Amino acid sequence: MISYPDRLNLAQIPTPFYRLDRLTEMLRSEGAECPQLWIKRDDQTGSLTSGNKVRKLEFLLAEARAQGCDTLITSGGVQSNHCRATAVLGTQLGFKVHLLLRSDIEPQPVGNLLIDQLVDARISHYSPQEFRKLDLLFAHWQQHYTEQGSKAYSIPTGGSNGTGLWGYIAAAQELQQDFQQQGISPSYIIHATGSGGTQAGLTLGCNLLGMDTQVEGYAVCDNNAYFKHKVTEDILHWSEQSSMAVDISALSIVTEDNYIGPDYGQAGPEIFASIKQLASLEGVILDPVYTGKAFYGMVEEIRKGRYAGASDIVFVHTGGLFGLFAQQQKLNY
Ligand SMILES: Cc1ncc(COP(=O)(O)O)c(C=O)c1O
Repeated sequence: MISYPDRLNLAQIPTPFYRLDRLTEMLRSEGAECPQLWIKRDDQTGSLTSGNKVRKLEFLLAEARAQGCDTLITSGGVQSNHCRATAVLGTQLGFKVHLLLRSDIEPQPVGNLLIDQLVDARISHYSPQEFRKLDLLFAHWQQHYTEQGSKAYSIPTGGSNGTGLWGYIAAAQELQQDFQQQGISPSYIIHATGSGGTQAGLTLGCNLLGMDTQVEGYAVCDNNAYFKHKVTEDILHWSEQSSMAVDISALSIVTEDNYIGPDYGQAGPEIFASIKQLASLEGVILDPVYTGKAFYGMVEEIRKGRYAGASDIVFVHTGGLFGLFAQQQKLNY
């Protein structure tokens, strides 16, 4: 029995879980040894709050409330899904929200940023160079709010830390119930990994629940060594906070880093082609920053035979739809 800390009910869960039969069939008809593919629709955790972040924010915002904070500070890229979810939920719950955004491109009021603006979050844009000193930026604003008589709660990029990780431990438990309902025991759970929290939560959750499933994060930035370190760090933080011992050496932390493409946030034409294909085949829409890259990578690896002999594969759709609208011209319609 896992004993969870305080949490707010913010996510529309359990999210749908079902088979991707047409895609599975298509890959088999190409001659690929393709296990049965399934999808976990965490893009349906909410409309404005769509995606994986709301699961983490259930625990983070509960902690912010318990600490008596009135302001949330968080950070991310200019099209951050995490910042958008924090801005929306923070506003709904009566917090002031301040976003520190890495704006490497001229910020256009589209996609996630448009929503940040609509809910009237305070936004500070920083160049990638300034953003390298993110710890100092957080410290500066934290002090600023203290001086103003406010109490700010800082959430790291992506909501990935020992508290946010609980969201994907709970998601692992939800998946375990999905598997039981369907009578399956999938060999793999695959998802996009960016700040590492989803990967840390799922990897730890499956381990705590005794699930015989390998979690694989498909990187959208950084490399394998980075994720090994980051996932380990988040799990150790969780262990320290929750006073629950964890044997890191018993965890299998697996990252595939060959599908990042040109850079974080930049995708080649193959990713847009893959987004179009899944949309027309299954009516499921991915994004070019996270899920499109992870999904494309998974399909390529299936074609190469990496998963031959596996029973079932589950793809966790972690959201990102608003990011697609910020790059819609690349779909070439
Ligand atoms: C749509 C989407 N998918 C996947 C991820 C990756 O999740 P994490 O940051 O927990 O690695 C993110 C977060 O940045 C995201 O917005």
